[in-house]
Amino acid sequence: MATTLADAIVSRSEADTFAAGRALAPLLRPGDVVALSGDLGAGKTCLTKGVAAGLGIQEQVTSPTFNILLEHHGRLDLYHFDLYRLQRADQLEDIDFFGTLEAGGVSIIEWGERFPGAMPDDHLAVEIGIAEDECRHFTLVARGPRGRQLASAWVAAVGARTDAR
Ligand SMILES: Nc1ncnc2c1ncn2[C@@H]1O[C@H](COP(=O)(O)OP(=O)(O)OP(=O)(O)O)[C@@H](O)[C@H]1O
Ligand SMILES: [Mg+2]
Repeated sequence: MATTLADAIVSRSEADTFAAGRALAPLLRPGDVVALSGDLGAGKTCLTKGVAAGLGIQEQVTSPTFNILLEHHGRLDLYHFDLYRLQRADQLEDIDFFGTLEAGGVSIIEWGERFPGAMPDDHLAVEIGIAEDECRHFTLVARGPRGRQLASAWVAAVGARTDAR
């Protein structure tokens, strides 16, 4: 069963979203999976850039839209997926999606909700809603014990309002 923290984190700027990602980074462990959803331009890549910075990744993190998967090395390896351009679930095998999730790094998956059946049982889903102007509301949907642990630790780290339902 999923635990939903509605609008658990509010970002008022690109810098806020980056900072939220940086706050998540120290909480991450090998094998963790974070799925990011939200419209085009919601801030999924921006959040990932913050995570990368927090993991001590030096190289530039860009959107993997055309590559589907970009890998970076920091305190932990970061596997940054963008599934937007995948047409069918069987193409996940072509990119070794399932093997990569278990390769010992942290996986961040943009547009993972396109293939809900492919997401691991235990993960944290972040739904980024675009509010007015530059405001973004992050709803955390924790699936499984590790997802719940990450969600509550992240909210505490950001010091944000929680609204469990
Ligand atoms: N609060 C905010 N957080 C993040 N980005 C914001 C915010 N307000 C405005 N922006 C702008 O929204 C855009 C977010 O772009 P980003 O590439 O991170 O989105 P995305 O969700 O990854 O999109 P895509 O679905 O195309 O991959 C940037 O242009 C950024 O400047
Ligand atoms: Mg993106």
